[in-house]
Amino acid sequence: MCDKKDDLRVGIIGVGSYLPEKVLTNEDLEKMVDTSDEWITTRTGIKERRIADKDTATSDLAKEAAIEAVKNAGLKITDIELIIVATITPDSTLPSTACILQGKLGAKKAVAFDVSAACAGFIYAIATAEAFIKSGLYKNALVIGAEKMSSFTDWKDRNTCVLFGDGAGAAVLAPVKDGGILATHLGSDGSQADLLKVPAGGSRMPASKETVENRLHYIKMSGSELFKQAVKIMANAGNEAASLLHFGCDDIDWVIPHQANIRILNAVAKRMKLDREKIYLNIERYGNMSSASTAVALVEAVKEGKIKKGDVVVLDAFGAGLVWGAIVIRW
Ligand code: ACO
Repeated sequence: MCDKKDDLRVGIIGVGSYLPEKVLTNEDLEKMVDTSDEWITTRTGIKERRIADKDTATSDLAKEAAIEAVKNAGLKITDIELIIVATITPDSTLPSTACILQGKLGAKKAVAFDVSAACAGFIYAIATAEAFIKSGLYKNALVIGAEKMSSFTDWKDRNTCVLFGDGAGAAVLAPVKDGGILATHLGSDGSQADLLKVPAGGSRMPASKETVENRLHYIKMSGSELFKQAVKIMANAGNEAASLLHFGCDDIDWVIPHQANIRILNAVAKRMKLDREKIYLNIERYGNMSSASTAVALVEAVKEGKIKKGDVVVLDAFGAGLVWGAIVIRW
């Protein structure tokens, strides 16, 4: 417990990531469904993605990213007071992946829970952690975006199976003297929930022989409608968060976006009137890892030395729900 301070600024003090070793290329997918490297590359920008092996669950991916982030933050696992895992691919419905992770890490002091906000999950989880730390309830938080999308991907459906990959990215948040989170904008629109979903396996449609036979435990997506929404919503979210600070595009050094489709990101840059070079991209190597996409992109941009101290970084994501979020951070 720490004292509540209204002027407390919360920042990211350490990051980490983990990607499974196995690479699934577009050429590999050509042998699985009626698709081509040319179609996938031109329509999405994806060349390959990582796939976790069958004995690896989301909490295992999260654990590796978490250990690296805590080490980089200069903390011990037992210092962590709050763990939030953003995921739509939990180890199981019950208990939360965050609790499983807490046990695996031995983070005895930490309160742990999951956040379900699809591809915007990492941003929702960071916003939640920031609010907890600002409230004075916890001194620090470990936030992880972790997904084993391959377990919910229909490997017979060419409309979706070429898009997704597995991975995890983590950040440790704590009060900072310089920089930190400057502004947050979150949004949801449940009236469009049907655009992207896993229909079965919940209370609406419990698992049965029929749901399995009809492949209803896999991701179903209205791709082209989502595409239009994603461009509009991600550009608006980024602009909304920046405008809270009266920032224009010249004030932004990096946009770290959710990596769903290169064409979406090109259109977002145009709509935000942002120099395309300021958008960090790794979609070519990993595809769409839902909540892990923004997290891993942030970690890699830091590790590659692209993000420097003092830079203004905008995390910007959109996903199933619909949900969206943008966070402006001075690094
Ligand atoms: N290989 C070859 N052809 C394909 C493939 C494939 N893998 N997939 C679809 N096609 C075909 C379709 O069948 C269709 O053929 P038809 O014209 O004969 O019917 C044609 O390609 C065009 O299909 P569209 O769906 O219109 O293609 P589009 O250009 O929209 O690209 C895509 C599809 C990549 C899915 C795109 O719509 C997209 O990226 N949408 C947004 C995804 C997104 O942002 N999701 C939200 C976040 S994810 C989350 O929250 C977990």
